[in-house]
Amino acid sequence: MAKIDRAGFGTKIGAVLAAAGSAVGLGNIWRFPFETGNHGGAAFILIYLGCVLFMGIPIMIAEFVIGSRSRANAARSYRVLAPGTQWHWVGRMGILAGFLILSYYSVVAGWTLEFIFEAVTNSFAGKSPADFIASFNGFVGDPWRPAICLLLFMLATHFVIVRGVEKGIEKSSNILMPVLFVLLLLLAVCSVSLPGAMNGLKFLLEPDFSKVDGNVLLGAMGQAFFSLSLGLGCLGTYASYFRSDTNLPKTAFNVAWIDTGVAVLAGFIIFPAAFSVGIQPDAGPSLIFITLPNVFQQAFGNLTWLAILLSVMFYVLLALAALTSTISQHEMVTAYLHEEFNMTRKKAAWLVTGGSFVLGLFCSLSLGVGKDYTIFGLTLFDLFDFVTAKIMLPAGGLCISIFVGWYLDKKIVWEAISNNGTFRLYKVVIFILKFFAPIAIAFIFINELGLIR
Ligand code: PFF
Repeated sequence: MAKIDRAGFGTKIGAVLAAAGSAVGLGNIWRFPFETGNHGGAAFILIYLGCVLFMGIPIMIAEFVIGSRSRANAARSYRVLAPGTQWHWVGRMGILAGFLILSYYSVVAGWTLEFIFEAVTNSFAGKSPADFIASFNGFVGDPWRPAICLLLFMLATHFVIVRGVEKGIEKSSNILMPVLFVLLLLLAVCSVSLPGAMNGLKFLLEPDFSKVDGNVLLGAMGQAFFSLSLGLGCLGTYASYFRSDTNLPKTAFNVAWIDTGVAVLAGFIIFPAAFSVGIQPDAGPSLIFITLPNVFQQAFGNLTWLAILLSVMFYVLLALAALTSTISQHEMVTAYLHEEFNMTRKKAAWLVTGGSFVLGLFCSLSLGVGKDYTIFGLTLFDLFDFVTAKIMLPAGGLCISIFVGWYLDKKIVWEAISNNGTFRLYKVVIFILKFFAPIAIAFIFINELGLIR
């Protein structure tokens, strides 16, 4: 039988940072701006913040409870806490979601490598906004380049995974997060001072609730789950490595604030710049990749060395932020295969890497040569994004809140969520888990997906 070598986090701050590393990634800097752009701006952001506060944080606490009290992977945790029941299917659905996300997320993560290359070779110099759009479309349409980037990125993730949890994940998270934050702050200042940036600020700050419909609600909820890495057992898997005295509600609050701060900062970089150079805010997944080079170009154009330095730093940090997220997606699937199917960790890791690379390849091609093949009117890439972020994760969140709110032993729940009586909002969290979150998620589903007509 293969030896199960469950790892542990050395320090408390390491565990928190690793969880934050999972949460902060392309979801904040790439997906948040384009979903905000697709859904009309400020009103979407406010609803998003509401979803983080009233669903995301309580459900994150619940996921931490499941992981830390079972000390097991996402599927086994339900067998430990609810033996002889069908709850483990929630864990399995989450693992499938993690695998699908890893596949298409790594495609975009691969794009960051192309942009590091372009930044290093000073290829942004002298280009107009239209040139940036054309060169991005040319890159994504090419069958080879994005595929090679995807392969490189998957191998990087694989490498960290086989080195083990403590050494790999903890070390990479510790220094990078704060540096990324400072750089984002600097870029936001640059972007806001571009000519015509005011319209972008208005887009971010002046809500127009008349445009809010079921689609906006589903989008905001899906983004909250995606950005917080929630609803699939990924943070639960990390929590299974926490030290037993970790304060779960406090950790959840910290992760959520860091994550939300980065997303909002990304908004303050993208929209002022997009409005300044005339890029449509609803440009979709290409939005940050066609907007940001303009910021480097316009703000530092006549200082070539500074433009190169900052753009290289930015794309390297973006790639690393994506890496700490792909590691967490990979880790939850690897831990599952390793612990459930009697496989060595290495073999499990290779299976995950190989499988998600093949799926990722199809997702990547579906944006270029295969863009005419659609399912329900969506490319494979968009379908994976829709099904995971907008259906599987909130559905997982619904089950997790019911599991912890109603099913799990009251004493375990009280000890963990109230942090042995020191966390005063215990009752609020329980109310949300029992009533508000399940009802709100079900309402948004029924309303938008037409589950009941
Ligand atoms: N939260 C990550 C991000 O915002 O980039 C994406 C993610 C990571 C989603 C891990 C799901 C997951 F399990």
